[in-house]
Amino acid sequence: MSRLKDKVAIVTGAASGIGRATALLFGREGARVVATDIASSGETVMQEIRAAGGLATFIVHDVTDESTWLKVMTRTLDTYGRLDVLVNNAGIAISRTVVEMTLAEWREQLAVNLDSVFLGTKHAVRAMRQGGRGGSIVNVSSVSGMVGSPSTSAYSASKGGVRMLSKAVAVECAPDGIRVNTVFPGGVRTPIWENADWWDGFVRQVGSEEEAWKKLEAAAPLGRMGQPDEIAEAILYLASDASRYVTGSELVIDGGYTAR
Ligand SMILES: NC(=O)c1ccc[n+]([C@@H]2O[C@H](COP(=O)([O-])OP(=O)(O)OC[C@H]3O[C@@H](n4cnc5c(N)ncnc54)[C@H](O)[C@@H]3O)[C@@H](O)[C@H]2O)c1
Repeated sequence: MSRLKDKVAIVTGAASGIGRATALLFGREGARVVATDIASSGETVMQEIRAAGGLATFIVHDVTDESTWLKVMTRTLDTYGRLDVLVNNAGIAISRTVVEMTLAEWREQLAVNLDSVFLGTKHAVRAMRQGGRGGSIVNVSSVSGMVGSPSTSAYSASKGGVRMLSKAVAVECAPDGIRVNTVFPGGVRTPIWENADWWDGFVRQVGSEEEAWKKLEAAAPLGRMGQPDEIAEAILYLASDASRYVTGSELVIDGGYTAR
Protein backbone atom coordinates (compact mmCIF):
# COMPACT_ATOMS: atom_id res chain seq x y z
CA MET A 1 0.00 0.00 0.00
CA SER A 2 1.37 3.43 -0.82
CA ARG A 3 -1.37 5.97 -0.32
CA LEU A 4 1.19 8.35 1.28
CA LYS A 5 4.22 7.36 -0.76
CA ASP A 6 7.14 9.75 -0.11
CA LYS A 7 4.98 12.17 1.87
CA VAL A 8 6.44 13.57 5.09
CA ALA A 9 3.95 13.57 7.95
CA ILE A 10 4.04 14.81 11.55
CA VAL A 11 1.63 13.04 13.94
CA THR A 12 1.25 14.43 17.48
CA GLY A 13 0.15 12.34 20.46
CA ALA A 14 1.64 9.32 18.68
CA ALA A 15 2.53 7.31 21.80
CA SER A 16 -0.99 6.01 22.36
CA GLY A 17 -4.47 5.39 20.98
CA ILE A 18 -5.52 7.16 17.78
CA GLY A 19 -2.17 8.90 17.24
CA ARG A 20 -0.25 5.65 17.55
CA ALA A 21 -2.59 3.86 15.12
CA THR A 22 -2.27 6.79 12.69
CA ALA A 23 1.54 6.88 12.82
CA LEU A 24 1.73 3.10 12.23
CA LEU A 25 -0.78 3.23 9.35
CA PHE A 26 1.05 6.18 7.76
CA GLY A 27 4.30 4.20 8.01
CA ARG A 28 2.68 1.22 6.25
CA GLU A 29 1.37 3.57 3.55
CA GLY A 30 4.85 4.81 2.62
CA ALA A 31 5.02 8.07 4.59
CA ARG A 32 8.14 9.30 6.35
CA VAL A 33 6.67 9.73 9.80
CA VAL A 34 7.70 12.23 12.46
CA ALA A 35 5.90 10.87 15.52
CA THR A 36 5.79 13.18 18.54
CA ASP A 37 4.44 12.91 22.08
CA ILE A 38 5.02 14.35 25.54
CA ALA A 39 5.54 10.71 26.66
CA SER A 40 8.89 9.22 25.66
CA SER A 41 7.19 5.81 25.29
CA GLY A 42 6.29 7.03 21.77
CA GLU A 43 9.78 5.87 20.79
CA THR A 44 8.34 2.35 20.34
CA VAL A 45 6.13 3.61 17.46
CA MET A 46 9.22 4.76 15.59
CA GLN A 47 10.88 1.39 16.24
CA GLU A 48 7.83 -0.50 14.92
CA ILE A 49 7.69 1.59 11.74
CA ARG A 50 11.41 1.08 11.16
CA ALA A 51 11.17 -2.66 11.88
CA ALA A 52 8.57 -2.88 9.09
CA GLY A 53 11.00 -1.18 6.69
CA GLY A 54 9.57 2.36 6.97
CA LEU A 55 11.23 5.67 7.77
CA ALA A 56 10.38 7.31 11.09
CA THR A 57 11.66 9.74 13.70
CA PHE A 58 10.36 10.23 17.25
CA ILE A 59 10.57 13.56 19.09
CA VAL A 60 9.51 14.29 22.67
CA HIS A 61 7.18 17.25 22.23
CA ASP A 62 4.81 19.22 24.44
CA VAL A 63 2.22 20.54 21.98
CA THR A 64 1.43 23.53 24.22
CA ASP A 65 4.98 24.86 23.88
CA GLU A 66 5.77 26.95 20.79
CA SER A 67 9.54 26.56 21.13
CA THR A 68 9.28 22.75 20.85
CA TRP A 69 6.98 23.14 17.82
CA LEU A 70 9.81 25.12 16.18
CA LYS A 71 12.25 22.31 17.01
CA VAL A 72 9.88 19.68 15.55
CA MET A 73 9.54 21.68 12.31
CA THR A 74 13.30 22.28 12.01
CA ARG A 75 14.10 18.62 12.68
CA THR A 76 11.47 17.48 10.15
CA LEU A 77 12.78 19.76 7.40
CA ASP A 78 16.44 18.95 8.20
CA THR A 79 15.77 15.18 8.21
CA TYR A 80 13.28 14.77 5.36
CA GLY A 81 13.50 18.08 3.43
CA ARG A 82 9.77 18.86 3.34
CA LEU A 83 6.46 18.73 5.17
CA ASP A 84 3.30 17.42 3.46
CA VAL A 85 0.99 16.41 6.31
CA LEU A 86 0.36 17.46 9.92
CA VAL A 87 -2.03 15.51 12.15
CA ASN A 88 -2.92 17.54 15.26
CA ASN A 89 -4.07 14.64 17.43
CA ALA A 90 -2.60 15.05 20.95
CA GLY A 91 -5.26 15.71 23.54
CA ILE A 92 -6.51 15.27 27.08
CA ALA A 93 -10.02 15.15 28.54
CA ILE A 94 -10.73 16.89 31.84
CA SER A 95 -14.19 16.00 33.11
CA ARG A 96 -15.79 18.44 35.58
CA THR A 97 -19.16 20.07 36.02
CA VAL A 98 -19.01 23.73 35.04
CA VAL A 99 -19.33 24.73 38.70
CA GLU A 100 -16.49 22.47 39.86
CA MET A 101 -14.13 23.35 37.00
CA THR A 102 -11.27 25.61 38.11
CA LEU A 103 -9.85 28.29 35.86
CA ALA A 104 -6.52 26.44 35.87
CA GLU A 105 -8.21 23.24 34.63
CA TRP A 106 -10.12 25.19 31.96
CA ARG A 107 -6.88 26.77 30.74
CA GLU A 108 -5.01 23.45 30.75
CA GLN A 109 -7.78 21.83 28.69
CA LEU A 110 -7.78 24.62 26.14
CA ALA A 111 -3.98 24.77 26.01
CA VAL A 112 -3.51 21.06 25.23
CA ASN A 113 -6.47 20.63 22.87
CA LEU A 114 -6.80 24.01 21.15
CA ASP A 115 -3.68 26.21 21.58
CA SER A 116 -1.74 23.19 20.32
CA VAL A 117 -3.74 23.04 17.09
CA PHE A 118 -3.21 26.77 16.52
CA LEU A 119 0.56 26.45 17.08
CA GLY A 120 0.95 23.34 14.94
CA THR A 121 -1.17 24.79 12.15
CA LYS A 122 0.69 28.10 12.19
CA HIS A 123 4.13 26.50 11.85
CA ALA A 124 3.00 23.80 9.41
CA VAL A 125 1.45 26.41 7.11
CA ARG A 126 4.75 28.33 7.13
CA ALA A 127 6.71 25.19 6.23
CA MET A 128 4.19 24.09 3.58
CA ARG A 129 4.17 27.56 1.98
CA GLN A 130 7.96 27.51 1.81
CA GLY A 131 7.79 24.08 0.16
CA GLY A 132 5.37 25.43 -2.44
CA ARG A 133 3.63 22.06 -2.92
CA GLY A 134 0.59 22.64 -0.70
CA GLY A 135 -0.17 20.17 2.06
CA SER A 136 -2.81 18.61 4.26
CA ILE A 137 -3.55 19.38 7.90
CA VAL A 138 -5.87 16.99 9.72
CA ASN A 139 -7.20 18.05 13.10
CA VAL A 140 -8.71 15.63 15.59
CA SER A 141 -11.82 17.12 17.18
CA SER A 142 -14.55 14.99 18.80
CA VAL A 143 -18.31 14.54 18.72
CA SER A 144 -18.06 16.70 21.87
CA GLY A 145 -17.20 19.55 19.49
CA MET A 146 -20.63 19.10 17.89
CA VAL A 147 -23.06 18.08 20.63
CA GLY A 148 -23.10 18.77 24.35
CA SER A 149 -22.99 16.38 27.30
CA PRO A 150 -22.61 16.87 31.06
CA SER A 151 -19.19 17.55 32.62
CA THR A 152 -17.51 18.30 29.29
CA SER A 153 -17.73 22.10 29.06
CA ALA A 154 -14.00 22.76 28.66
CA TYR A 155 -13.39 19.67 26.50
CA SER A 156 -16.35 20.57 24.27
CA ALA A 157 -15.21 24.20 24.03
CA SER A 158 -11.74 23.06 22.99
CA LYS A 159 -13.06 20.64 20.36
CA GLY A 160 -15.63 23.13 19.03
CA GLY A 161 -12.74 25.59 18.76
CA VAL A 162 -10.75 23.06 16.72
CA ARG A 163 -13.73 22.71 14.37
CA MET A 164 -13.96 26.43 13.55
CA LEU A 165 -10.20 27.09 13.61
CA SER A 166 -9.91 24.39 10.93
CA LYS A 167 -12.59 25.91 8.71
CA ALA A 168 -11.17 29.44 8.96
CA VAL A 169 -7.64 28.27 8.10
CA ALA A 170 -9.00 26.05 5.31
CA VAL A 171 -10.45 29.12 3.59
CA GLU A 172 -7.39 31.27 4.35
CA CYS A 173 -4.90 28.74 3.00
CA ALA A 174 -6.84 27.31 0.05
CA PRO A 175 -4.97 29.61 -2.39
CA ASP A 176 -1.72 27.91 -1.24
CA GLY A 177 -3.12 24.44 -1.93
CA ILE A 178 -3.02 23.72 1.81
CA ARG A 179 -6.09 21.72 2.86
CA VAL A 180 -7.38 21.69 6.45
CA ASN A 181 -9.96 19.13 7.57
CA THR A 182 -11.29 17.82 10.85
CA VAL A 183 -12.24 14.35 12.07
CA PHE A 184 -14.88 13.90 14.77
CA PRO A 185 -14.47 10.55 16.53
CA GLY A 186 -17.18 9.23 18.81
CA GLY A 187 -16.16 6.97 21.70
CA VAL A 188 -12.96 5.12 20.80
CA ARG A 189 -11.45 2.50 23.07
CA THR A 190 -8.16 4.11 24.10
CA PRO A 191 -6.37 4.93 27.38
CA ILE A 192 -7.92 8.44 27.43
CA TRP A 193 -10.94 6.84 29.19
CA GLU A 194 -8.97 4.87 31.78
CA ASN A 195 -6.84 7.96 32.51
CA ALA A 196 -9.92 10.05 33.37
CA ASP A 197 -10.19 10.74 37.08
CA TRP A 198 -13.82 9.45 37.16
CA TRP A 199 -12.90 6.08 35.61
CA ASP A 200 -12.03 4.17 38.83
CA GLY A 201 -15.23 5.34 40.53
CA PHE A 202 -17.26 4.38 37.44
CA VAL A 203 -15.69 0.90 37.42
CA ARG A 204 -16.52 0.47 41.12
CA GLN A 205 -20.09 1.65 40.50
CA VAL A 206 -20.77 -0.80 37.64
CA GLY A 207 -18.77 -3.68 39.13
CA SER A 208 -15.89 -4.28 36.70
CA GLU A 209 -13.81 -2.78 33.91
CA GLU A 210 -15.59 -4.94 31.34
CA GLU A 211 -18.97 -3.69 32.58
CA ALA A 212 -17.67 -0.11 32.34
CA TRP A 213 -16.61 -0.65 28.71
CA LYS A 214 -19.99 -2.31 27.97
CA LYS A 215 -21.81 0.80 29.23
CA LEU A 216 -19.72 2.99 26.94
CA GLU A 217 -20.18 0.60 23.99
CA ALA A 218 -23.95 1.01 24.32
CA ALA A 219 -23.80 4.76 23.58
CA ALA A 220 -23.44 4.38 19.79
CA PRO A 221 -26.22 3.03 17.54
CA LEU A 222 -23.73 0.57 16.02
CA GLY A 223 -23.50 -0.91 19.54
CA ARG A 224 -19.78 -0.67 20.12
CA MET A 225 -16.94 1.81 20.53
CA GLY A 226 -14.64 2.67 17.66
CA GLN A 227 -11.16 1.21 17.31
CA PRO A 228 -8.14 3.52 16.88
CA ASP A 229 -7.50 1.98 13.42
CA GLU A 230 -10.97 3.05 12.26
CA ILE A 231 -10.17 6.70 13.04
CA ALA A 232 -6.69 6.34 11.52
CA GLU A 233 -8.25 5.23 8.21
CA ALA A 234 -10.34 8.44 8.09
CA ILE A 235 -7.27 10.54 8.91
CA LEU A 236 -5.36 8.72 6.15
CA TYR A 237 -8.04 9.60 3.61
CA LEU A 238 -7.85 13.30 4.51
CA ALA A 239 -4.04 13.24 4.54
CA SER A 240 -3.76 11.55 1.15
CA ASP A 241 -4.30 12.86 -2.38
CA ALA A 242 -7.54 10.84 -2.52
CA SER A 243 -9.13 13.84 -0.75
CA ARG A 244 -7.47 16.46 -2.98
CA TYR A 245 -10.77 18.37 -3.50
CA VAL A 246 -11.72 18.24 0.20
CA THR A 247 -11.00 21.16 2.53
CA GLY A 248 -12.79 22.67 5.52
CA SER A 249 -14.77 19.44 5.85
CA GLU A 250 -16.02 17.52 8.88
CA LEU A 251 -15.64 13.75 8.84
CA VAL A 252 -17.66 12.13 11.62
CA ILE A 253 -16.65 8.58 12.65
CA ASP A 254 -18.93 7.83 15.59
CA GLY A 255 -20.98 4.67 14.98
CA GLY A 256 -24.04 6.87 14.47
CA TYR A 257 -23.78 8.68 17.84
CA THR A 258 -24.61 12.13 16.39
CA ALA A 259 -27.12 10.83 13.81
CA ARG A 260 -29.97 10.73 16.34
N1 LIG B 1 -10.79 8.04 22.59
C1 LIG B 1 -11.92 8.69 22.32
O1 LIG B 1 -13.02 8.23 22.65
C2 LIG B 1 -11.87 10.01 21.59
C3 LIG B 1 -13.07 10.52 21.06
C4 LIG B 1 -13.06 11.73 20.38
C5 LIG B 1 -11.87 12.42 20.22
N2 LIG B 1 -10.71 11.91 20.75
C6 LIG B 1 -9.49 12.70 20.57
O2 LIG B 1 -8.52 11.91 19.93
C7 LIG B 1 -7.22 12.39 20.29
C8 LIG B 1 -6.36 11.22 20.72
O3 LIG B 1 -6.94 10.67 21.89
P1 LIG B 1 -6.80 9.12 22.30
O4 LIG B 1 -8.15 8.64 22.60
O5 LIG B 1 -5.95 8.41 21.33
O6 LIG B 1 -6.08 9.31 23.72
P2 LIG B 1 -4.74 8.72 24.35
O7 LIG B 1 -4.74 9.18 25.75
O8 LIG B 1 -4.63 7.27 24.05
O9 LIG B 1 -3.61 9.47 23.51
C9 LIG B 1 -3.38 10.86 23.64
C10 LIG B 1 -1.89 11.11 23.51
O10 LIG B 1 -1.67 12.53 23.61
C11 LIG B 1 -0.50 12.72 24.37
N3 LIG B 1 -0.47 14.05 24.99
C12 LIG B 1 -1.23 14.51 26.02
N4 LIG B 1 -0.85 15.76 26.33
C13 LIG B 1 0.13 16.11 25.47
C14 LIG B 1 0.92 17.27 25.29
N5 LIG B 1 0.78 18.37 26.08
N6 LIG B 1 1.85 17.27 24.31
C15 LIG B 1 2.02 16.19 23.52
N7 LIG B 1 1.32 15.06 23.65
C16 LIG B 1 0.40 15.02 24.62
C17 LIG B 1 -0.53 11.62 25.42
O11 LIG B 1 0.76 11.37 25.99
C18 LIG B 1 -1.07 10.44 24.61
O12 LIG B 1 -0.03 9.66 24.05
C19 LIG B 1 -7.43 13.44 21.37
O13 LIG B 1 -7.37 14.73 20.80
C20 LIG B 1 -8.84 13.15 21.87
O14 LIG B 1 -9.47 14.26 22.43
C21 LIG B 1 -10.69 10.73 21.42
